[in-house]
Amino acid sequence: MNLYLLMTAIFILMAALMAADAALASFTLAPWFSGLRWLRVHFITLGAITETLFGLLPVIVAIRAGRPRPAFRWDIWLTLNIGLLTLLIGIPIVNQVLIFVGGTLVFIATMLLIVQLRGLPAQKPAGVAEGNSTHYGRKFYIAGLSYFLLGIIVGTGLWLGWSEWLRIQTPVEVHIHANNWGFLSLIFAGLLVDLYPTWAGRPLAWPRSITPIFWMLTIGALGLVLGPWVKSNYFSVPGIILFLGATFWLLLNVIKPLWGDRETWSQPGLWHLVIAYFWILAPVLVAPLIILGVPGFPGAGIEQNAPQALIYGWVLQFGYAFIPYFFYRLFLPHEPARLGGSWFSLLMVNLGGFFLWASIFITDYQAMLHGTAYLFWTLSLIPIVLTVWRIVRAGLARLDDGVVSLEMK
Ligand code: HEM
Repeated sequence: MNLYLLMTAIFILMAALMAADAALASFTLAPWFSGLRWLRVHFITLGAITETLFGLLPVIVAIRAGRPRPAFRWDIWLTLNIGLLTLLIGIPIVNQVLIFVGGTLVFIATMLLIVQLRGLPAQKPAGVAEGNSTHYGRKFYIAGLSYFLLGIIVGTGLWLGWSEWLRIQTPVEVHIHANNWGFLSLIFAGLLVDLYPTWAGRPLAWPRSITPIFWMLTIGALGLVLGPWVKSNYFSVPGIILFLGATFWLLLNVIKPLWGDRETWSQPGLWHLVIAYFWILAPVLVAPLIILGVPGFPGAGIEQNAPQALIYGWVLQFGYAFIPYFFYRLFLPHEPARLGGSWFSLLMVNLGGFFLWASIFITDYQAMLHGTAYLFWTLSLIPIVLTVWRIVRAGLARLDDGVVSLEMK
């Protein structure tokens, strides 16, 4: 039983409740709704997405290498989840000891996962056909998780005074960049590399572009982490250029083979995957206007609020497509696995993004637009929560009847 996915289902439910809380807090409908910002973002990133990745990366790497599925690692699951629970208690009350213990446990769990992935063979045994390891996602996962380690150190240290002796100029930005341009960008790219042939039924457009994309994303992320660390655009600008180039190249790899294939484009999940990238590109595309300090341009408003559109518009939306897909493959292995999402979730999650950005520019209606953004995001989560729980219930029912063995094929 993949306990990570059960935790994922719980965190998705919590994310929906927190988005509703944020909407009600913005509408000031009920004073005791507080819209706890840290929980709002981290139920998605550290909760739903991280649990899914920890549960599935070893399985995906083993399957891609034609190896048996690795045994469930209780040590990794326990350190990750005790760490998460400790942070969920320690951060809202700003208890430094709990923050330190929680961050350290999540750090240890990530180290153990990296060691496990490195221990798994990167390529099929001799004599098994289909390409070579350069096409596999494992290196993306290991590089991404290494950036996560940095994100954990900076995040844990944000309220423990570590940023001073680490000489970090803008620590929250370094934390966000390490976790988003580094950790999740690389891992999402690795998932596209590993799973595209399965759910799209054809290879990526240019298989030889995968290694250059890997290095452009990895070095681009480094520039985007060092830039705010030492407050120098000599790192941020080349970082942005490499990151943008790699992301467009990756998206073209995904879109070109499907161009004109109306049937595949009739899947809302595919639109979730592609449109999600608009929300990681939006802050990058406006960054030059902030760097150049264009008068009247709400640079501070963007830095304050854009992370939310990034997490809901890009991270969560990418999750809308992949998380149900993994639940199908694991809980209902005898049914055809399809990307998650619906036309309703697609419309709602992107309307949420537009309203959040509008709240940055139309400040007279800031609270109303901000609340409406969260209302759309809450609505977009409902079909995903219902799908995931329906799959879990059906899968567990078959488990009871001994029909399925919950093994990912
Ligand atoms: C052990 C892991 C982590 C810890 C201890 C941590 C801690 C923190 C802290 C203390 C803040 C500052 C909150 C504030 O000043 O308001 C923060 C903000 C943030 N973190 Fe994390 N974090 C972790 C993991 C992650 C991950 C995995 C991601 C994304 C992939 C992430 C994304 C963010 C974002 C986007 C913000 C800015 C939130 C906002 O401004 O609305 N964090 N984190």
